[in-house]
Amino acid sequence: MESPEGKNAAKLGDARTHVLNHIFNYINSMSLKCAVDLGIPDIIHNYGQPMPLSNLIASLSIHPSKTHCLYRLMRMLIHSGFFSQHNVTENQLEIEYVLTDASMLLLKNHPLSVTPFLHLNLDPILTLPWNQFSTWFQNGDSTPFETTHGMLFWDYAGRHPTLNHLFNDTMACNTRFITSVVTEKCKGVFSGLKSLVDVGGGTGTLAKAIAKSFPQLECIVFDLPHVVDGLNGTQNLKYVAGNMFDTIPHADAIFLKSILHDWNDEECMNILKKCKEAIRRKGKEGKVIIIDMVMDNENKKDELQTHLFFDMLMMVLVTGKTRTKKDWDKLICSTGFSDYKITSIFGLTSLFEIYP
Ligand SMILES: C[S@@+](CC[C@H](N)C(=O)[O-])C[C@H]1O[C@@H](n2cnc3c(N)ncnc32)[C@H](O)[C@@H]1O
Repeated sequence: MESPEGKNAAKLGDARTHVLNHIFNYINSMSLKCAVDLGIPDIIHNYGQPMPLSNLIASLSIHPSKTHCLYRLMRMLIHSGFFSQHNVTENQLEIEYVLTDASMLLLKNHPLSVTPFLHLNLDPILTLPWNQFSTWFQNGDSTPFETTHGMLFWDYAGRHPTLNHLFNDTMACNTRFITSVVTEKCKGVFSGLKSLVDVGGGTGTLAKAIAKSFPQLECIVFDLPHVVDGLNGTQNLKYVAGNMFDTIPHADAIFLKSILHDWNDEECMNILKKCKEAIRRKGKEGKVIIIDMVMDNENKKDELQTHLFFDMLMMVLVTGKTRTKKDWDKLICSTGFSDYKITSIFGLTSLFEIYP
């Protein structure tokens, strides 16, 4: 047993800090959630100029016994990059706060707001299963979510409108990040196509943008009944309810955005087989278009961390995973597709065109 002396003491100190900071990681998420629940990013944004703590306290109707706590919450969130201090002053009440690029994405009305994603992921429905993670490793359930809630994630969403709406809103917000990349930078992918089915297309954020940009294209958003029932289409877009494991409507191209990472290899092979059966045209104009993550050791450290987080998330909530290039290659080839190409389109996301 090493005694904490000299060089060893420093190493031991670093190791202890490393462990503590990982144990406390949830404090980052929960402090952020608190700030968003209180509406702090919007209040500072609407103030229109650097906002003094005294004004922030007044705007939040903070209980008098808690005013000194707000300073501490803000100090934490400055440290984690969500706000910055505009001025230098010894008087806490005069400290002025401004938003950073990261907190701009927490504004309610920002077109690329990630607030639904925060509310979804930090809701006890999704955080409770993490407490069953190790139990799940030792039982036969398909996910820690199932161990906790007694049913699969998609069934739970079908029975609980609150989760269903929160999930659909989250997906819509995530998708907005890449909408213009798909319709502008990836235009060529749609050339020559007459019809497309967006399988698991949610409430249709991406398909609506595609249908608008390519008016010659007949688009279908295909998803479970609790997601698409009651939604109205447009001239060249309609909603169809169904189960992709049974049958998928026929089209020139089948679109799968953020679908395969929800499922294990066997389930993905079944989905891809159904997609293949649904492709109407042969040759390069009949294809499956996949938008998904590709985990890569060359990813920047931050991106790799996000990929690894998503991988764990998929393990805990659903049966999926984050795949490497090699995993994708194996999956696509073992489903009998003849050829494919991958284009990295934005941050963590790549677009695959795969041909029957
Ligand atoms: C991760 S979300 C992706 C939504 C959308 N593609 C996007 O990227 O915004 C997965 C979608 O698959 C749908 N889904 C799950 N099981 C399905 C099934 N058996 N058949 C059709 N859709 C399904 C879910 O309802 C959900 O909308």
